[in-house]
Amino acid sequence: MEEEDSIFADDVEMIDDATVLEEDYTPSEILCRDDSLGELTDISKPIYKGRPPQNAFLYGDTGVGKTAVTKYLRNRLINDLGEKNSNLSNTDQLKLNDIWINCENFTTAGHTTSSYQVAVGIVNWLRESGNRITGTGYAPQDVYDIMYSELDSLSGTVLIILDEVDKIGEDDTLLYELPRSRDIGYLEDVRVGVIGISNNYTFRRNLSPKVKDSLCETEIKFSPYDATELADILHNRAEQALYDGTYADGIINLVSALAYQEASGSARRAIRLLRGSAEIAEGEGVTQIQKEHVRQANEKIEYGNIVESIAEQDDEKLYILKSLAHLALVEKTPARTRTVHQTYCRVVRAYNEDSGNEPLTRRGMFNHLSKLVMFGFVNTIDRNAGAAGGQWSEHGFSDDIGPSKIKEAIEANGLEWKQISTRGVS
Ligand SMILES: Nc1ncnc2c1ncn2[C@@H]1O[C@H](COP(=O)(O)OP(=O)(O)O)[C@@H](O)[C@H]1O
Ligand SMILES: [Mg+2]
Repeated sequence: MEEEDSIFADDVEMIDDATVLEEDYTPSEILCRDDSLGELTDISKPIYKGRPPQNAFLYGDTGVGKTAVTKYLRNRLINDLGEKNSNLSNTDQLKLNDIWINCENFTTAGHTTSSYQVAVGIVNWLRESGNRITGTGYAPQDVYDIMYSELDSLSGTVLIILDEVDKIGEDDTLLYELPRSRDIGYLEDVRVGVIGISNNYTFRRNLSPKVKDSLCETEIKFSPYDATELADILHNRAEQALYDGTYADGIINLVSALAYQEASGSARRAIRLLRGSAEIAEGEGVTQIQKEHVRQANEKIEYGNIVESIAEQDDEKLYILKSLAHLALVEKTPARTRTVHQTYCRVVRAYNEDSGNEPLTRRGMFNHLSKLVMFGFVNTIDRNAGAAGGQWSEHGFSDDIGPSKIKEAIEANGLEWKQISTRGVS
């Protein structure tokens, strides 16, 4: 009897090694980054030589290789130090402890990361599971004390890498204290070097002068990749991930060009787009990725990005967007502020039956609505009917936004899509 194909199988497979296209894959080779690799090597030399470590602040847009370059260099350092130590007597060996904290991991809905939570993260990195501390059980000073005593129980050098450090928010105590912890007298037995990595330029500008003095001893800027560099990185990745003959050079160039134009030179975006294109091509059962697949994959990513940025809005703004969605569905947009407000009140009540939260006044709602215009979600047209007719505003979605995206965003936030009647609003 002939076996039936699984519904999960595709006739042709293009992806040979999918892990190579995953977000957290650390490439074995870093391309097009000789400059930052060189700077970071210089900063790490003292550790290799057993001298006091330096601190550094790395910054640049998302997807430009900050994490990949730093991970690569850390691995090299651990590896090369291991080799150096193998030729040294026990007493001469250099000890390196490395700590990698992604500060983003401490951001939970509504709460930004703080120095305190990062300190908890450092303690838990050093402790065995079972002996970890919780993020809520201690007074901040206690957590810092525990952290410093854990650090001081190590020997040699501690290299602390704080990735996505901009998530730490306004309380940057730790960023000031950690790099200077030995000078301040918090630590006696170890030397600490801190590398902070940030996606956010505003964060860098707003750091306190004390942090700029300590952590930002050396700053390394990662500039965006141009289309040629993206193509180099992609070629290398595609060779490892995809079967021979499944992609032409023109496809790599198209993916690179799109990532360059639409995601300001992000290699992450380029790799994601390549993977999406290969998956779409596989789904269609063809043997080569076509330009059409790249375009479809690009639209899919754009769509996902927009939904994500809607879902990040606060509740009031989501209620307003939902009101506009219901008005748009019955072709009542562009709608006057009064009409939007009436619908908005129904939405707020539908979602707050239990909490008893009341809708904002028209004025209060209007403030949020103006922000939505500023963010590019909503278009507002000002009407003027002369002295007799008066002035008013009408609101509708901008071109990129529509009811289906609002629905997806609301559902992405774990909320049910409630039906709201627009009957009688005017
Ligand atoms: N120079 C490079 N060589 C090889 N791969 C790279 C390079 N730069 C970035 N990448 C890859 O692009 C993706 C995004 O890079 P990443 O380091 O995570 O960016 P960032 O931390 O700046 O947001 C990762 O998959 C990474 O491996
Ligand atoms: Mg990163």
